[in-house]
Amino acid sequence: MASSAKTAAPKAAAAKKAAPAAKKAAPATVGKGAGSNAAVDIQPVLNQQNHAPAPTQRYGTVSQRLPIGLDEQTRQASVTGLNQLLADTITLRDMYKKHHWQVVGPTFYQLHLLYDKHYEEQSTLVDAIAERIQILGGVAVAMAHDVAELSSIPRVPRDREEAPVQVSRLLDGHQRLLKNCHDYADTADKNGDDGTNDLIVSQLIRTNEMQVWFVSEHVVDSPLIQAQ
Ligand SMILES: [Fe+2]
Repeated sequence: MASSAKTAAPKAAAAKKAAPAAKKAAPATVGKGAGSNAAVDIQPVLNQQNHAPAPTQRYGTVSQRLPIGLDEQTRQASVTGLNQLLADTITLRDMYKKHHWQVVGPTFYQLHLLYDKHYEEQSTLVDAIAERIQILGGVAVAMAHDVAELSSIPRVPRDREEAPVQVSRLLDGHQRLLKNCHDYADTADKNGDDGTNDLIVSQLIRTNEMQVWFVSEHVVDSPLIQAQ
């Protein structure tokens, strides 16, 4: 007993001596995760948006950050067109989810599932368009209020509507979007922006045309039981 108490005493004294040194070293390692025993300040720096500096890039401008072999004029034209397509695609995507929730009637089950499938496909397109805009050096429109201002699809009421009205609204939205797609694909082709042209033709036009087919067939007035 006596011997262990003897050996513990010098250890404690050494620790006491070492303590001020550790305290002194603390400021240099705070927040750096350097593996030292110094206390790390884990308080998040909050509310930085209240005194934010100027934005890193203004909406509507196009930078030449990435070396992708396209001039500024071409990038600007593509970004402007793609932001229009993005706003319309976000609107169409959200219209599908609204209708997915609100649909009623004998075709409830199939429309409920179909609307959600199309919602997912439109979500994929939203991401592809937005990322193309960023690659081109632009700023992708994102928030609902900005999308509502930019979209060419007429405002959809909050009310629940009959399934054929839902389908008609969707088809009108698809058609507006597809007309813009053809215009912007043509512009991108003439400007030599092959990536944007490919995105619009291979993904947007193909997906939207397919969805138009699946949705349109729900408003054909065909006999259900007996042929006319
Ligand atoms: Fe759902």
